[in-house]
Amino acid sequence: MKLTNLRKKGRNLLLASALAVSVTTSSFLLFSPKSAMIKKDFAVAEQQYGQMLKTAKDLSQFPRTTNKDGSVKSTDVWDWTGGFFPGGLWYIYEYTQKPEWKAAATKWTEALEKGQFLTQHHDVGFVMYCSYGNALRFEKDPEKIEKYHKILIQSAESALTRFDPKVGLIKSWNAKKSWDNKTTWLYPVIIDNMMNLEMLCYVSKLTGNPKYKDVAISHALNTMKNHFRPDFSTYHVVDYDANGNVVHQQTNQGYADNSTWSRGQGWAIYGFTMMYRETKDQRFLEAAEKAADFYINHPNLPKDKIPYWDFNVNQAGYQPDWAYDAKKLNYIPRDASAGSLTASALLELSTFSANGPQYFKQAEQMLTSLSGPDYLAKPGTNSGFILKHSVGSLPHNSEVDVPLVYADYYFLEALLRYQKLVK
Ligand code: GLY
Repeated sequence: MKLTNLRKKGRNLLLASALAVSVTTSSFLLFSPKSAMIKKDFAVAEQQYGQMLKTAKDLSQFPRTTNKDGSVKSTDVWDWTGGFFPGGLWYIYEYTQKPEWKAAATKWTEALEKGQFLTQHHDVGFVMYCSYGNALRFEKDPEKIEKYHKILIQSAESALTRFDPKVGLIKSWNAKKSWDNKTTWLYPVIIDNMMNLEMLCYVSKLTGNPKYKDVAISHALNTMKNHFRPDFSTYHVVDYDANGNVVHQQTNQGYADNSTWSRGQGWAIYGFTMMYRETKDQRFLEAAEKAADFYINHPNLPKDKIPYWDFNVNQAGYQPDWAYDAKKLNYIPRDASAGSLTASALLELSTFSANGPQYFKQAEQMLTSLSGPDYLAKPGTNSGFILKHSVGSLPHNSEVDVPLVYADYYFLEALLRYQKLVK
């Protein structure tokens, strides 16, 4: 064989193997276990929410969980969970790009319009930002955009009606008794309230008026000061006097006043990560990291990384003030909603933190568990919800080991965040 022919043959071989490598690489990317998992989960989401859309016809009733008979239990616009169903529809649209999901998301978002006037509790941010905030990422029609902007500005104004500058925080609930029955909280603030701040940061950007974000920062700084214990676990409820002094640190949905309610810890990780994104204030990043470290290093975090509903159930040193009956259930329920929202939070935190690879790995394990048969619904079951095994409030004997719409919402959000990071 002539030298030139050999060279040619060699070049062809090289080209062929390069092609083989690139085909393998791209099919690896297309069909890698990671993207296959995301694809499968969204296929389940489409089937489940497709089923839900067939049964949920009343646009004043927003799917939230299941009744004992397996039917869908809904809430009206004035509760805290109305925004999650439309938000989930937007996430399915984001992944699939199918116009029918956009149409459904728009319809359910616009059904929340009067929620902009919600002032009876702090959750206007959850309701209006998970719905309209997501809608604004995709809407192209200038008239609709203008309308949605106005709705979010009014929603932020509603949130500000609950902010007393002397206290420096947004009041979560109106006066309410604690479980010990001795205490009436007059200015209760719950860790969940961190989640309402993202809308305020958005509206400041939108309007150029810093007042909304200033409130968010004040709220986050005071929460950082008073909701964390020295080990960076969180109290659920902190009650203040009229001058902003802490009067009580207790629980409403957790096991005991000194325990760590899993979803609350998740809200803290998510909320402080988000406030770091919006402000680049290093203190918020540190708070998020320390709250995350508490969660992922906790000896009671199960192997599959989906937490029990509270980290301290049945442990010595933790005394419930509510009528806890340890024999009522022969197991400690997990809370998939805490798992999904924490996975989503850790994925964002992984992009900011020097400890990013560790947060990413933990989130990946959480998502893998949630994508498995223990938590992911078999299509056609679970009343149309995507995830099984969440807990709304065990002390209230309400929504124990059931699907919850916000578990689904943060699961879909986490999958999309994961997809962007593994691309
Ligand atoms: N924000 C209420 C809850 O997490 O249950």
